[in-house]
Amino acid sequence: MDHHPKHQYSYYFHVFVAIAIALAVLVCCEEESVKPLVKTVKGKKVCTKGWECKVWSEYCCNQTISDYFQSYQFENLFSKRNSPVAHAVGFWDYHSFITASADYQHLGFGTTGTKHTAMKEVAAFLGHVGSKTSCGYGVATGGPLAWGLCYNKEMSPSKLYCDDYYKLTYPCTPGVSYHGRGALPLYWNYNYGKAGEALKQDLLSHPEYIEQNATLAFQAAIWRWMTPVKKHQPSAHDVFVGKWKPTKNDTLSKRVPGFGATMNVLYSDQVCGQGDVDSMNNMVSHYLYYLDLMGVGREEAGPHETLTCAEQQPFNPSSDSASDS
Ligand SMILES: *[C@@H]1O[C@H](CO)[C@@H](O)[C@H](O)[C@H]1NC(C)=O
Ligand SMILES: *[C@@H]1O[C@H](CO)[C@@H](O)[C@H](O)[C@H]1NC(C)=O
Ligand SMILES: *[C@@H]1O[C@H](CO)[C@@H](O)[C@H](O)[C@H]1NC(C)=O
Repeated sequence: MDHHPKHQYSYYFHVFVAIAIALAVLVCCEEESVKPLVKTVKGKKVCTKGWECKVWSEYCCNQTISDYFQSYQFENLFSKRNSPVAHAVGFWDYHSFITASADYQHLGFGTTGTKHTAMKEVAAFLGHVGSKTSCGYGVATGGPLAWGLCYNKEMSPSKLYCDDYYKLTYPCTPGVSYHGRGALPLYWNYNYGKAGEALKQDLLSHPEYIEQNATLAFQAAIWRWMTPVKKHQPSAHDVFVGKWKPTKNDTLSKRVPGFGATMNVLYSDQVCGQGDVDSMNNMVSHYLYYLDLMGVGREEAGPHETLTCAEQQPFNPSSDSASDS
């Protein structure tokens, strides 16, 4: 009779030891280079983590980008960028990307959700970047997708991209050209003006800073990814990580969370709602290629209707692009 409790005690003891070992293994072997500092604010757990995630936030409790995306992976993704025929040899590097990301990781860039979701976001962001900065073409060695970050600026701009509608808010500097520059290239005075406000740089006077400083170029690109193009709209980040909940109108317009919606946020009817056009397919191809190279796998990208925006109605038809924001 009194053997029974003893037996039970030893059973619980064994379970306890097993759980303790399992926890120890979990803690010891999670691939975290830096441990987050943790505190609780209004019942919410918030953290800071190394130099990459310095501002207290719930996102900094998670792995940071350099924990799962390392220098050799950046080299794999952009393997041809320093080949002699590339147009920005020696400009782009891993360190600039991670340094730039440190301004946005505490806001969820590359730190939202599981490691799997976070890796997909980095692949998606870089998929946009790779597509916009590629000089790959059909016969290029290594295939057309190996040539991301070949450019850091538009080579033969045909105009100054000065929109007079913004002459009071974002006045053009005489003689200065606001052609495409950067990782998600900025065009037009008002985009340089807005990015400059956010990054505390006088880009209206000196848009060339973007082609002189890879960290700044990546910062401007991540700013664009994290910031709605217009008020009351989601950012590309929001629609990708599922922070955005589609309205009934969105659903009717076939706008669903995913990579397709990021193209809709950033490029609207330039690429979306037109079926399987090349400009859209090129971004999708880069994203899928990077998912493979990062070890996530393209099969994780989801179905055609979330991956593309072929059937989505645009968030911002260009007919009213100058009317607000
Ligand atoms: C942090 O990571 C956990 C587990 O991977 C995830 O469930 C959670 O949503 C992440 N936190 C945030 C704020 O995204
Ligand atoms: C490049 O930009 C970064 C971030 O905006 C800044 O911290 C750094 O000093 C700049 N580098 C140079 C050489 O100007
Ligand atoms: C819903 O979509 C229609 C057609 O695209 C548009 O005219 C209307 O303004 C939208 N309504 C809201 C509340 O956004």
